[in-house]
Amino acid sequence: MKKEQRGQWGSRFGFIMAAAGSAVGLGNIWRFPYLAGENGGGAFILIYLIFVVLIGMSVMLTEFAVGRMTDTAAVGSFRSIDNRWTFAGVLGVLSAFFIMGFYPVVGGWAIAYIYKSATGLLAAPDAIGDSFGAFITSTYEPLIWTAIFLFLNVVVVIRGISKGIEAAGKILMPMLFVLLIVIIGKGLTLPNAGAGLKFLFSPDFSKVNGEMLLAALGQAFFSLSLGMGCMITYGSYLKKEENLPANTFIVSGLDTLVALMAGLAIFPALFSFGMEPTAGPGLVFVVVPTIFAKMGGIGVILSLIFFIALFVAALTSSVSLLEVAASYFIDERGWSRSKAVISVATVMIVLCILASLSLGAMSEMPIPVLGVGTFDLLDILTDKIFLAIGGVLVTVFAGWFVKKEDLKNEITNNGSVSFGLFNVWYTLVKYVIPIVISIVALVGIFGIEQKAVMILGLAIIAVLAIFSKKL
Ligand code: PHE
Repeated sequence: MKKEQRGQWGSRFGFIMAAAGSAVGLGNIWRFPYLAGENGGGAFILIYLIFVVLIGMSVMLTEFAVGRMTDTAAVGSFRSIDNRWTFAGVLGVLSAFFIMGFYPVVGGWAIAYIYKSATGLLAAPDAIGDSFGAFITSTYEPLIWTAIFLFLNVVVVIRGISKGIEAAGKILMPMLFVLLIVIIGKGLTLPNAGAGLKFLFSPDFSKVNGEMLLAALGQAFFSLSLGMGCMITYGSYLKKEENLPANTFIVSGLDTLVALMAGLAIFPALFSFGMEPTAGPGLVFVVVPTIFAKMGGIGVILSLIFFIALFVAALTSSVSLLEVAASYFIDERGWSRSKAVISVATVMIVLCILASLSLGAMSEMPIPVLGVGTFDLLDILTDKIFLAIGGVLVTVFAGWFVKKEDLKNEITNNGSVSFGLFNVWYTLVKYVIPIVISIVALVGIFGIEQKAVMILGLAIIAVLAIFSKKL
């Protein structure tokens, strides 16, 4: 499709808000704190930051450049340069489906907690942990919230690129930012808040191992929305005169800032109340309301605001995931936008139902051979395998299959933007990043418990690569 026919971002601010909206989500606020908590805090955070700077930012710039250069979404981007690479785009579409097979479940929890915060959740602080467990393992209630969450996604994405996504991002992202500052301000004034700061910022390197490295790498990709064509797709909607390195810097900087802010919002208060940092995926949903419950009347309002923010952040991210999956059928198969979005969302709701049930009614029935439930399967497949391999693919593709000149012209807008780090970036993309990711992936596979899932993931990628021409 020609540039004029594709949707375009209405303004630079709108693009940054939408791309940052994609990046900032449950990954920052739900997942980053609990991963940091489980992996001992400071060392994990430091390694995460190194991966963001060394790998994440370069991959993001690569994705923006490839997307804008080819003017098409993920699959078309790869195909238009070299059709043997179509599978790399299709892998991204598959990642979008798989992430959207559990993301709306957690997004649904966030909506539920807006409602619960307003209707007496905080009245019995000691029961908050148990009530979270009872809620996510129940059969119907989480499914209703998940369906509401996914429905809202469908509405935003059907309304089209600049109208829907941009309008949502513009209002909601700045709101989230302000809310986090308010919560941090409150948390830091609590007694013993310093223990939380120490946990976050003083690294204990005895905690470092292969599994943790892969977790930090996967989290960097997940949080920055990389390795699955999302930023390629968003880049394809970006105007030719936009400065790609500047946009990369702002979007990845904002994402990292929000993750650290989420840590700051949670851990000082958590330590102040003498709770455990290793509470796992329930961390945000149990710890935050408990903290607020102990604050009296204002706590109810803060909790309400917090879960609105979490919901908003989740929505602007899942909208981008739905967009990646839908744009494959729009661009590659010629479907209408509404047909594509509704079909894609139908598959997603089925995955979500299985994912949600796997935490409760079906928790005693893990998938044979793999030994995990649907929720964990989709999570591990994407976060620990597909995104990182997607990162290797896009960097190898750009480094070895796209002309250096073309990349330089794209990134510097034909010489009108100066980017002094071009050669550093190019070396990272061509050699360093593929090698570093491969090493981390290898040590991670050896370290991880769920080996069967890792093997399945690699097998899926191999099958896609073999049948690439048919995709
Ligand atoms: N980055 C989003 C988050 O942190 C999740 C996401 C991953 C969105 C991949 C798009 C692509 O929640």
